[in-house]
Amino acid sequence: MSSGSILQVEGVHQRFGGLLALQDVSLSVEEGEILGLIGPNGAGKTTLFNVISGYLRPTEGSVRFLGKEVTGLPPYRLAAMGMGRTFQIVRPFPKLTVLENVLIGSFLRTSSRREAEDRAWETLHLTGLAPFASRPAASLNLAGRKRLEIARALALNPRLLLLDEVVAGLNPAETDATVKLIRRVRDRGITIIVVEHVMRVIMGLSDRVVVLNYGRKIAEGKPQEVASDPAVIAAYLGESGGGSEGR
Ligand SMILES: Nc1ncnc2c1ncn2[C@@H]1O[C@H](COP(=O)(O)OP(=O)(O)O)[C@@H](O)[C@H]1O
Ligand SMILES: [Mg+2]
Repeated sequence: MSSGSILQVEGVHQRFGGLLALQDVSLSVEEGEILGLIGPNGAGKTTLFNVISGYLRPTEGSVRFLGKEVTGLPPYRLAAMGMGRTFQIVRPFPKLTVLENVLIGSFLRTSSRREAEDRAWETLHLTGLAPFASRPAASLNLAGRKRLEIARALALNPRLLLLDEVVAGLNPAETDATVKLIRRVRDRGITIIVVEHVMRVIMGLSDRVVVLNYGRKIAEGKPQEVASDPAVIAAYLGESGGGSEGR
């Protein structure tokens, strides 16, 4: 284990009945890097996020975060330690305002109203949502709701941020704006794992890429190395109906 490592996943298996959704997955994330996590639909990317962030206790294997064994800790404990995540299906509290939704994230990390509000406003400015602060979350379009999802995760002032398909369904301009936002977040010293189907986003953002296929890690390396890896190309060619831009 290197000292700059913020997260270590070791030998994780996740079984759902007869399905082995993750098979012996190990990876480590270095402080300050953007790690891209890719793979065809159903490869186990979201399941791995669920294991890392405490929504699933793995059938086997372990997760270490900030040097501590955290396998099986509940999500709120991991959030309080500084792990933020977004969900692939965004579900803001529709009747609450944008600010209130972000405050919920802030309160995962502090019980001081003042601190929570300061943090929420800072996050709203960073994500470009400040002009919409007092509107109900339900009034945001998809791009806005995806941004709110990132803002909620950022509001807890994370050390590690897990982003699950935050550009899915966005148009090219909205996608570029989100890529810029992710870079700004990284420049603030936050380590990021990005799950994304849009290949140019992964290639443009990631320092390193891990590829899953049928629950197994099939490749790991620099974006260009991984993109030309025959096993990776075969996995994507074998994918039925997915893998294209915009998925
Ligand atoms: N809670 C669950 N119960 C049963 N099967 C699940 C559950 N979550 C995911 N799966 C299955 O695990 C596999 C991996 O899913 P997922 O992690 O969502 O893939 P990805 O995010 O890479 O598209 C799929 O076959 C999916 O149907
Ligand atoms: Mg997924």
